[in-house]
Order: sequence, then structure tokens, then C-alpha cells
Amino acid sequence: MSPSSRISDFYKLSPADRQRIVVEWAELTNEQASALENALGLAQADKMIENAIGVYGLPFGIATNFVVNGRDVLAPMVVEEPSVVAGASYAARLARAGGGFHAETTASLMIGQIQVLDLDRPEQAAGKVLAQKQRLIDLANRTDPVIVSLHGGARDVEARPLLDSPVGPMLVVHVIYDCRDAMGANMVNTACEALAPVIEEITGGRVNLRILSNLADRRLARGWCVVPAKALTTGDLAGELVVERVVEAWALAAVDPYRAATHNKGIMNGIDAVAIATGNDWRAIEAGAHAYAARDGSYRSLSTWSVNQDGDLAGRLELPLAVGVVGGATRVHPAARVALQILGVATARDLAEIIVSVGLAQNLAALRALATEGIQRGHMALHARQVATAAGAVGDEVDRIAAALVAERTIRSDRAAALLRAARET
Ligand code: MEV
Repeated sequence: MSPSSRISDFYKLSPADRQRIVVEWAELTNEQASALENALGLAQADKMIENAIGVYGLPFGIATNFVVNGRDVLAPMVVEEPSVVAGASYAARLARAGGGFHAETTASLMIGQIQVLDLDRPEQAAGKVLAQKQRLIDLANRTDPVIVSLHGGARDVEARPLLDSPVGPMLVVHVIYDCRDAMGANMVNTACEALAPVIEEITGGRVNLRILSNLADRRLARGWCVVPAKALTTGDLAGELVVERVVEAWALAAVDPYRAATHNKGIMNGIDAVAIATGNDWRAIEAGAHAYAARDGSYRSLSTWSVNQDGDLAGRLELPLAVGVVGGATRVHPAARVALQILGVATARDLAEIIVSVGLAQNLAALRALATEGIQRGHMALHARQVATAAGAVGDEVDRIAAALVAERTIRSDRAAALLRAARET
């Protein structure tokens, strides 16, 4: 049985004490534990990108209280924004009262695109491509015997004539590719490049682009939870009223793109933070999420919230999640390896199921705060620490100046600097 992720007052512990708890939880070695503080050396960074001159640090936090598909989970989150980790932990506690999060994923199918131009009849060319589907699948699979041995590889070929584009008609061939536990961009791009000359031969056209699509709508993750109304009760508001207000808050995002963008940004606060912690390509996830949010022609909320038959709050989130546990930075970056171990996931689908749950939790945290006390109270207390640090406060000064800023309700850098000067003069 895994230990409980419900660790009360985790936030009150020192970073070293929190680290000790997580080291024990995930059975991290000393070397892995030290990767939490000194993850990446310059020599390694130099192998990851071009022209490296340094390494950029971000806080690595842990969201507590998560239960996903019946298993207790600690969620590693790398993020610069205050309130995100606290929000996820708080919302996970609320969801825990209703049995936690449930999640499922489709297979890890990605789409590679091959653009074909200079065709007299794109529709006819589409037919010719489909007639040779098996030949194309076999050829794609010869490019990566390893993924084939892992029961992945090309699954299907589709052809979409696009008759009206700014440069005239064209055909786009889709290669549907099972990437198993990798995000898969490299294997899909390699397959598309290998197929290009054969597609030209089959269609008589000219291939231009050969690249993965980030609208990974065959690689979906779905998460859902029920939060008992009672758990949402605040000092001033009955839980039933909070449920209603959360649903009202969601309703605006369901119909208005101005609100949907912010609502979805809140979801991505959680999703990106775990994606970054685990070395995944969060720009790819962002691109897929927002394209999916606009899939029916209007940009909408990725989640839905409703009152269920018992009067409790029911939430659901669905989005494409192209994440991997092998390949890319997931295995190269020492802290990403530690993050995967803390999560205890063995497959990309396990990881996606946790990430979608964290996204739903983050959304719940934001909606609950917005629909009750407003976001600024909790946010500003944490923001004040950043403002104090930016004004030059160090060590104990940070908390003292931040507390003074909050008490004054003036969270401004000029005031932080003045308070700091005054404190240092006395
Ligand atoms: C801030 O990073 C995210 C929120 O704006 C999300 C939301 O409004 O739902 C609080």
C-alpha cells in the first residue's frame, strides 16, 4: 500500500524537512535527492541545447493530497508563480473528500502530417494514397524497429484534400502513429520524412512539410472528480452556494472566449508545472490544449462543472496530452527523472492521468477562490514575498517585509523598499 499523500501542514515545514519526507516517500537515493537542488550542470546543459552559457533555476514544489484512480500521489510541480502549488494541494484535498480524481487516457496516438502540392486533382490523389495504405504503414514502421518491438509504430494513414488554401488546393496525408511511452515527435517526424518520396511517387505531387501535429486529438486524457458540497463550506458561505457559484463561474468560460482563455490558463498552470517537472515539452501541450479548446470553431473551456444529483460539485476535464516518460529531457534531466520517481509512474498514460487530474485540481482551486473570497487575498500573501525579495530582502527579512506589506494591503515594490530601508536603519 502506498503511503498517504495527505500530509497536513506540509507547507509549514522547512524546505529541508519537506525534502526528507519526499525522499522517504519516493525512496530517493542521496544522488537523486541532491538533484533536487543541483539538477543540471553546465556540461549537461551544453548537450541539451545550442550555445548554452548557463543554467536557469525554477522552484521545484510538491502538491500534496492527490488521489488518482485510488492511488495516493505527490505531484512534483516546477513553476515560478506563487499560489499554484498551494492551490493544487488545497483542491486535491477537496476532491479527496469525494474519493479523489479518476482519469483515463486513449492510446498514445500522434498524427504526422505530409503536405502535398502541385496536384491537379487532390481528391483523386487522396484515393491513390489510401489504396497504398499498407505499403506506407510498412515503410513507416521500417524507420523505427524499436518502437515496433514495443508494440507501437504506424497504425493508419489518412488523406485529407484541402481544396481552398491561400496557395490553392493541396492534400495533407496523416500518419497515425502509436508512440507508446514517448512523446514521439522525433519518431513521427522521421516516419513522415521517410514517407515523403513515396507519397510524391504515388500522387505525382510535390511534398513540402513533413511534421508532427500538436493537435494530438487521438491522444486524449480525461479526468473527473466529485467534491462534496459540505467540503466547500466557507466561514461565510454554505457549501451548496459555493457549488452554485463555481458552476456559474464555469458557465462564463463555456460561452465567452475572453473568460475561457483565462479559465484554461488556470488549468494549464497545473498541467505545465508537472510537464516541466517531468521534462516534457509544455509548449506542445499548450498548443494542443488551446487548439482542442477551439475544435468546434469557438474557443471554449476545456473543463465542465455541474451540480450532480446529490447536490455536490462534479468536474471533468478532457484535453490532448502528448507526454512521455522516455526520450527527450525526461531521462536526460536529473530532476525530471526524480520527478517521475516521485510520481511512481511507469507509462506515459499513467503520467497523463495524473497530469489531467492536476489540471482539474488547479481549475477547481481558481474557480473556488474566484467564486468566494476572490483570488487576491491568497495570491497577494505569496506575491508579497516575491515583491519583498525583489526589493532586496534576504533571509528572515523576506517574511517580515511581506507580512508588513500584506497588513498594509500595499503590495508594491516602492513600499517594500521603504520598509526594508526602515527595518535596516533600526
Ligand atoms: C492565474 O494564474 C490563473 C487564474 O486567472 C485562473 C482563472 O481565472 O480561472 C486565477
